[in-house]
Parts: sequence; C-alpha cells; structure tokens
Amino acid sequence: MKDIELKYKETSLVSLQALADAAETLSPYIARLREVSESEEYDTPEAFINLPFDRDIVGVVKEAAGKAGGKELSYIIVVGIGGSNLGTLAVYDALRGKLDAFRSTPMPKIIFADTNDPDLLADIQSILGEHINSPEQILVNIISKSGTTTETIANFEVLYGTLKERFGEESAKKRVVVTTDRGSKLWSEAQREGFALLEIPQQVGGRYSVFSAVGLFPLSLAGMDIDALLEGARVMRDKCLSEGVEENPALLSAALIHLHYKAGISIHNSFFFNSQLESLGKWYRQLLGESIGKKHNAKGEEVRVGITPIVSMGPADLHSMAQLYLGGPKDKFTTFMYTPESERSVRVPEDTAFPALAESVAGKSLTEIMRAIFSGTKEAYRKGAFPFMEVVLPDISEGSLGQYLQFKMMEMMFLARLLGVNAFDQPAVEDYKSETRRILNGS
Ligand code: PA5
Repeated sequence: MKDIELKYKETSLVSLQALADAAETLSPYIARLREVSESEEYDTPEAFINLPFDRDIVGVVKEAAGKAGGKELSYIIVVGIGGSNLGTLAVYDALRGKLDAFRSTPMPKIIFADTNDPDLLADIQSILGEHINSPEQILVNIISKSGTTTETIANFEVLYGTLKERFGEESAKKRVVVTTDRGSKLWSEAQREGFALLEIPQQVGGRYSVFSAVGLFPLSLAGMDIDALLEGARVMRDKCLSEGVEENPALLSAALIHLHYKAGISIHNSFFFNSQLESLGKWYRQLLGESIGKKHNAKGEEVRVGITPIVSMGPADLHSMAQLYLGGPKDKFTTFMYTPESERSVRVPEDTAFPALAESVAGKSLTEIMRAIFSGTKEAYRKGAFPFMEVVLPDISEGSLGQYLQFKMMEMMFLARLLGVNAFDQPAVEDYKSETRRILNGS
C-alpha cells in the first residue's frame, strides 16, 4: 500500500516556524492520544482512533454479513443520515463510481435512504415491488446512533411496512439489521421485535463512526475489502500520533487550516478531480462543519467559531465557480486532491471528427488531459497567490480511502484543539431535531 502525501510548501501562506509552534501546542494532546490508543478502550470520544484495531468489531461484522449475505442478495438499503451514512456513501461511491446504478454487476448494490423525499421513497418501494422476488434479495440496515432521528425512523417504518406487505412479517423481520448504541430506545425496541442488532461504541460520535459497524457492515456486505480499509486506517493512525509536523499529516493539515483561519481565511474548499470522490467531499463537509462550527468554546464562553466547508469538483466546477474562486475575495484555503492512477485507459482517437478543433487532444489519453487541467488549475491559483495545499492519494482503493478517512478525522481533533472547541458535540443539530419532533407531535 502506498502512502498519502501532502504538498504545501510555497503554495500556503504559513511559515515553517508557525507550523512548529502549532506542533508544540498540540504535543500534550498527542501524548494523551497515545495513552488512549494504548488503553484500547472506548472511554473517551477520541477513542474512535482505536476502531481500526478492534478485531472483535470486525469479527462481529463479518459474521453478521455472512448471515445476511448470499448469492441472491441484490440490494442493501441503508437507512440513516449524517454520520450514520455519509462515510459508507463516501467509500461506496469512490469504489463503485458514478454510474454504478446503470451496471448490472457488481452486486449487491447499496441504496441510501437518507431523506424523507416522497419521490425517493416511492422509487425504492417500486424497486421492492418490481425487482425483488424473494426476501433473500433485500436487506434493510437501519443505522442511528441516538435511535431517535425522525428522518431515519420514518423511512425505516415506510420500508419495513412495504417489506411486510410483500413477504409477511416473519420473513421481513429476518431481512433487517439494526445498528445503534446499546441502551438506546431503538436498541430495546429492536430487541423486543427480534431484529438482528449491531452495536456502536457509546463514546464514538456519529461522524467519527465509519470504522465501526456503521460503515463496516454495509460495506462488507456489498463486497468491499474492509480488511484493506482498516489496514489503511491503522497505518494512518500511527503516523498521526507522531510529534513531528512533517511526519504527521493530520497535525500538518490541521495547523495549515488553522493558521489560514487566523489570517482571516474562513472558507475551506475541498477540490477533487476524481468524479467518484464527490461523496468523500460531502463526508468531510459534515466533519468540518459539525466539529468546528461552535457557538461556545470548550470553556463555555461564547466564541462563534466556524470554518465553512465547500466541495468542488474539477473540471466541471471550473466552468461554474472558477470565476468566483480566482476573481472574487481571497477568503478560501483550498485542498486539491487528484489521483491519476486508473487501470482503465481511454484515449482520444488520432483520427478525429473535428481535426481543426481537436489538434491539442488528438491521440492523447484522458489521463494526460486531466493531468493538464489539474496542473493548469494549480498554476492559476499559484499565479494569483490563492493559498492551497495538495493531498496526493496514491489510488482509489480501500487502503487509500482508509488512510484518508482516518487522516481527516484525526485532523479534525487537532483543529478543534487549536481552536479551543469541542470536536465531538453538535448542540445546534440537536436544537433542530427537537424542534422537528415538537412540530410533528403537534405541541
Ligand atoms: O455527527 C453526528 O452526530 C450527526 O450528524 C448524526 O450522525 C446525525 O444527526 C444522525 O444521527 P443518528 O445517528 O443519531 O440518527
């Protein structure tokens, strides 16, 4: 497995001394994280860093996937939202690509039911009605850490109702797996109903849970190599526990984002040039938005801190957003990410239909053309002195994605520390959730 690399020198606005100072500030925290990693327990929110090393979780997940899977399984419906589905969606889309739904193989496919949009749910109901002939072809995985999220509960009830109508209650029940905290209301209700259950360690927060059963179960069931994913995460965790800023990608990246924020740059643009990584960008958007956007600091003082995460896709967004990025205010720090590695080679023919127009691309591979666009974009940023860093992902594989996810989750802990906020709570999200429940209850 090749390692993720970071490039930032000469393209970011910070000095080596400022980075060394950030490393010194974080040094006691890193020492504490090393203790967390040695304890192998889940007794603090930071303990999500131990998930990739937890053989028990992998064993339980593989056993559950073995029971729920089988040759006939065609569709896995993941019912969850936010931290309960974005990591799975990120890995799935990265590995299967944007046109997965149009390809007959590989199977099974994952369908994500994360919104209460009636059109989406009606379409899933049609799939259940038209493409599914036996209960073994379908598996519904409801995922909710709190067990009380309105969107998730409503969607599950709709889909479970459809399954019951189609196959009867006893068969439908066997095609459901519930992933939640032990002790949540959903856990006890699921136990009472006799559904299969998977546990999320209590201290592990939703957006830090992709390496628990939350992500591992549906990904394993869909045929992804979860061992390689976790191997990537393990390699990265160990790097991100080192003290030196050059050896520790999470520390380096957190320090860069923090120092630009302190210089008044409060927007972070994740700019991807592989179309299948868009969901990975959205996973990171939640991680940065929810972990850092805080009214109060860790001491309870009102601070209103926040870095606005945006996600851009090259080259498409160059044709809609580049004018703003390169012509508008200098308020963004960009992280570019592109991997040109692909086993598939596609080439523009030598004999083109429009020779007068296609002269510069005739005979060239699409990889060469993409590389030119990527380099051209970075050059325009450099010339305009728009600050950026680059994450070099060696390829789009389980191992690289495992590294990336772990790197970014650890970056977030460090960034929160530097900003003095709690990386693990989301009180404002809870506000909207309780207001929604109040309105639905008619109070
Ligand atoms: O990161 C978080 O904690 C949130 O985004 C939650 O994941 C999201 O609100 C869904 O919550 P739950 O998993 O409890 O249904």
